[in-house]
Amino acid sequence: MWKQLCCCCCLLFCQLLLAALVCSKDHGNPANDLVNMINNNRTAHKLTKLNDSPGLGCMALQFVEFCKGNCTSDNTVNCKPSEDDFTEIFAPNCGVELPTFGTITGRIVGCRSKYLEPSLAFSNVLVPDKRTLSVLSNKSHSEVGVGMVGVHKGPFFWCVLFSSGRTNSTFVLENHGLGIKQKKGCYSGSSIPCSVGHKSAVSPSNFLLLSFLVYQLQQVYPNLFFFPM
Ligand SMILES: *[C@@H]1O[C@H](CO)[C@@H](O)[C@H](O)[C@H]1NC(C)=O
Ligand SMILES: *[C@@H]1O[C@H](CO)[C@@H](O)[C@H](O)[C@H]1NC(C)=O
Ligand SMILES: *[C@@H]1O[C@H](CO)[C@@H](O)[C@H](O)[C@H]1NC(C)=O
Ligand SMILES: *[C@@H]1O[C@H](CO)[C@@H](O)[C@H](O)[C@H]1NC(C)=O
Repeated sequence: MWKQLCCCCCLLFCQLLLAALVCSKDHGNPANDLVNMINNNRTAHKLTKLNDSPGLGCMALQFVEFCKGNCTSDNTVNCKPSEDDFTEIFAPNCGVELPTFGTITGRIVGCRSKYLEPSLAFSNVLVPDKRTLSVLSNKSHSEVGVGMVGVHKGPFFWCVLFSSGRTNSTFVLENHGLGIKQKKGCYSGSSIPCSVGHKSAVSPSNFLLLSFLVYQLQQVYPNLFFFPM
């Protein structure tokens, strides 16, 4: 009897641990996954790892937000914001402190008719050829930011911005690094999980795990979830 109970407790503990692990994993922001993929690709080619700059990421989000209407039928973003758009629209929208605006040393922009998982977005949209790989591999970069946004029932947009600045002193976000809260899309370096349109906070796998946990709890404590009317 005791042995059985102990075993149950152990099982329950393991389940809880697993749930905690799943919940604590950074699953809310695919822009961060893309930064990791960019860095893994660079380090595999013996290049330096780039610092993840939230200010730059937010600017990348502004870029795609600005170009949202212009995904052509061959999946290219036909849109060329000016330098002034960066300083007069993108930076203020993010709350990037203007004196800290750094040098942008490269950018990659892409779109698809629908959202793609980070690994597919990396290989099919952002770095599909030699030209984009050479942008990613440029030795001038020291920091990176990724922004992404989708149009409801329309195309999805990705943007990577590279800069030669130092993470602490360029593209600094006001309000102690929080910047201005964004209504749409998401960007790397932000602790705010993003909604890419079809993902909810409780992912299907987490929901399954949660249901399983409740089920197990019910097995151990049959009366726990019994609410008399
Ligand atoms: C999008 O494309 C249209 C037509 O080519 C162009 O007039 C417009 O300026 C573009 N938008 C941006 C933000 O570049
Ligand atoms: C790397 O980036 C710098 C700054 O944007 C640029 O001047 C240079 O041409 C790039 N180098 C290569 C190999 O693309
Ligand atoms: C880096 O990315 C390019 C473009 O997707 C790919 O062809 C290459 O195999 C990648 N390199 C490594 C080491 O993963
Ligand atoms: C940023 O600056 C703070 C203090 O100025 C320092 O402690 C921290 O190590 C710096 N971080 C990076 C990534 O340079």
